[in-house]
Amino acid sequence: MDLGSPGEKHRQAVPNAQAPWAGFDSRAYVKANYLRLHDEDAEIISIMRDHFGDYFREHRQDADPVIGIDVGAGANLYPALAMLPWCKEITLVERSPQNLEYLESQLESYDENWNQFWTVLRENAEYQAYQGDPRRRFHEVTRVEPGNLLDFDRIARRGPWSVGTMFFVAESMTTEREEFDRGVGSFMRALAPGAPFFAAFMEHSEGYHVGAEFFPACDVGEQEVYESLEPFAGKIDTLRLKRLGAPGNLRKGYSGMIVAYGRRNLDSDIPES
Ligand SMILES: C[S@@+](CC[C@H](N)C(=O)[O-])C[C@H]1O[C@@H](n2cnc3c(N)ncnc32)[C@H](O)[C@@H]1O
Repeated sequence: MDLGSPGEKHRQAVPNAQAPWAGFDSRAYVKANYLRLHDEDAEIISIMRDHFGDYFREHRQDADPVIGIDVGAGANLYPALAMLPWCKEITLVERSPQNLEYLESQLESYDENWNQFWTVLRENAEYQAYQGDPRRRFHEVTRVEPGNLLDFDRIARRGPWSVGTMFFVAESMTTEREEFDRGVGSFMRALAPGAPFFAAFMEHSEGYHVGAEFFPACDVGEQEVYESLEPFAGKIDTLRLKRLGAPGNLRKGYSGMIVAYGRRNLDSDIPES
C-alpha cells in the first residue's frame, strides 16, 4: 500500500540503497492504510485466505513444522495473520529501523485496528477451525528480524520457509527493474520447494510519500510481475495473477494492484542464482 502523490523525484533513478528508509514514518503509514479496512485489502485478504486455506486443508498431515516469512513487512500485520493458524514460527523481515520498531511494539499485544483484518480471514472455514486467540498466538510465534531483500543469503539460510508473503515491496523499494526482479527472486528462492506463497504489487506506481519522505517505485504491470515470478512458480500449481482496485482510490500515481500466488517450484525447476 502506498501513500500520497508522486513528486518530481520519481523521474530520477533511485536504487534501493539510496531511498530514505530510515525516515519511513510507520505511524503515518498505518494511519493512512491500516487503521480502517480498505476494500482493496478486504479483496486481497479474501483471495489469500482461500489460497492458504485450500493448501493447508490438503497438507494438514505433513510432518514438518510450518515456518512462515513475510518479507518487507513494514507496518502491516495482515500477511502474518494470514499464516498464523499453521505456523510454529513467523519471521517478519524489514529494512527500515522505524518499521522494525513498530513491528516489535506489536509483538506483546497487537493494536485493535488489526482485529478487523482477522475478521475477514475468519470468513474462511480453515481459519474458523483455528480455536486459539490470534493476539496471543502472534505474540508466541512471531519474531522480527532486520534484513535486506537484496542481500538475503543470511536470512535465506535460516529457511527454507514453508509459506511466504511479500506485500508491496519488490516494486515499492527501487526505481530499477533489475532490483525488482532480484527482489522477487530472493523471496522465491528463500521458500521451500512446493511452498505456497502470496505477493502483492502496486501497478504502474510512480513512487509514494510516507510522512515527509518520498519513496521510489518501479513501474511494473501484469507482464513484468508474471515474468519475474514465472521462473520460480507454475510447475506444481498454476501461477495466478489478479488485478484489482482502481486508479486514484488511495492516491494518485498508480493504476491498480496486482496479486500473484501459487506454489514455489521444485529446486530442479528454478534457475541457478
Ligand atoms: C510500501 S512498503 C510495504 C510495507 C508492507 N509490506 C505493506 O504491505 O504495507 C515497502 C516496505 O519495503 C521495505 N523495504 C525497502 N527496501 C527493502 C529491502 N531491501 N529489504 C527488505 N525490505 C525493504 C520498506 O522498509 C517498507 O517497509
